[in-house]
Amino acid sequence: MASYNPNDPALQADPFAAYQWLRDEQPLYRNDKLGFWAISRHADVATAWRDNATFSSDHGPALEQWGPDAAQTMGFVALDPPLHTLRRRQISQGFTPSRVRRLEPRIRELTRAYLHPLLEHGSFDFVDFATAIPVDVISELIGVPPQDRSLLRRLSQQIMTRDDLDGHLTSAVKEANAELAGYYASLLTERRRHPHEDLITSLLHADVDGERLADRDVIATLMLLGVAGNETTTKLISTAWRCAWQHPDQRERVWSGDIDAGAWVEETLRYEGPSQYTARRLTRPVELHGITVPADACILLVIAAANRDERAFPDAGRYDMTRDTSRTLAFGLGQHFCLGASLARLEATIVLQELMKTVEADYDVDVASASWAASPNVRGHAHLPTMVKR
Ligand code: HEM
Repeated sequence: MASYNPNDPALQADPFAAYQWLRDEQPLYRNDKLGFWAISRHADVATAWRDNATFSSDHGPALEQWGPDAAQTMGFVALDPPLHTLRRRQISQGFTPSRVRRLEPRIRELTRAYLHPLLEHGSFDFVDFATAIPVDVISELIGVPPQDRSLLRRLSQQIMTRDDLDGHLTSAVKEANAELAGYYASLLTERRRHPHEDLITSLLHADVDGERLADRDVIATLMLLGVAGNETTTKLISTAWRCAWQHPDQRERVWSGDIDAGAWVEETLRYEGPSQYTARRLTRPVELHGITVPADACILLVIAAANRDERAFPDAGRYDMTRDTSRTLAFGLGQHFCLGASLARLEATIVLQELMKTVEADYDVDVASASWAASPNVRGHAHLPTMVKR
């Protein structure tokens, strides 16, 4: 292994040898060509996440959108305190744990509605099934009407698609971003005239310490939630399905009730969680592994490598649903800890529980025909053919 480039499509199928090389041989890695540094050990990544005065988010979490204007398209994930704290409080008003919990019966209903027609055939693309549920759930939460959901799905897939080795944003991604922003702007106008019981309406009226959100901040937030909420959760559910198929002993144990679906979700998040890295800007020079990294450097926190670090998880390369996953970094840490973590966990757990109730444990997955989505950051399948029996 001589280099690490998160945009390299070869990494999508199997990034784990590269991650081991980074952790063991290059705990502070420098990519001169693309101009970033990377840390990959659990302790280093966790420390960086907790110290946001030094590891700033103000240039955004993604290499290809790295820059001082990142918050305009990526929303409050690209802000530091105190503005980040204010925005997050404003947004949390419309995204409370009780609002998420109330979604449980609806997620079950949607899962059954999507699953039952597929069972007639017995074989289907698992990704099509897994995509439909997060798109509907986030749309209902935000207030996107049913007729516009296929648009939301198409645009978020397009926005997450990266096929440029140097990490430049393609015109397709830029166009999809602009189309989604335009769509949300028109929805905002409509909700101002006709308020609903939804997140758009509560964001329009969110008030923290007398401050209201400007329209452009509401739009950036909706884009962040829509995109972050769809692709990550879809990929988590599909990966969980494939991982359990590859580990039949554990699959039998979840089906028999010996291991619960929550543990299946947690180990999948640790072992093959969708988020591969996040980016930070150094606000001052920092010494890491004997080298001084200069102020303003772009440094990647390689999440998926840290979650396989032997120093934090014994036998880290083994998929084991019974292990202690409490130190997982799959949803981040500290100020920017994923706002949708409880929703993602709830959705994935319910979908897997409904599958277990409906199909036999000895399902099949056609890994030879499976393919990977082109995304350096949110790793998962684009297609995953599966065969099930009732
Ligand atoms: C932040 C992962 C699902 C909304 C994050 C971060 C990670 C992450 C690692 C931290 C980014 C950073 O520190 O730079 C995931 C994974 C998911 C998932 C693996 C599913 C398996 C969701 C869902 C939503 C969501 C369903 C919304 C409905 C957000 C938001 C932030 C965030 C708004 C920014 C929080 C902040 O900056 O304060 N997510 N996420 N995520 N996530 Fe998620």
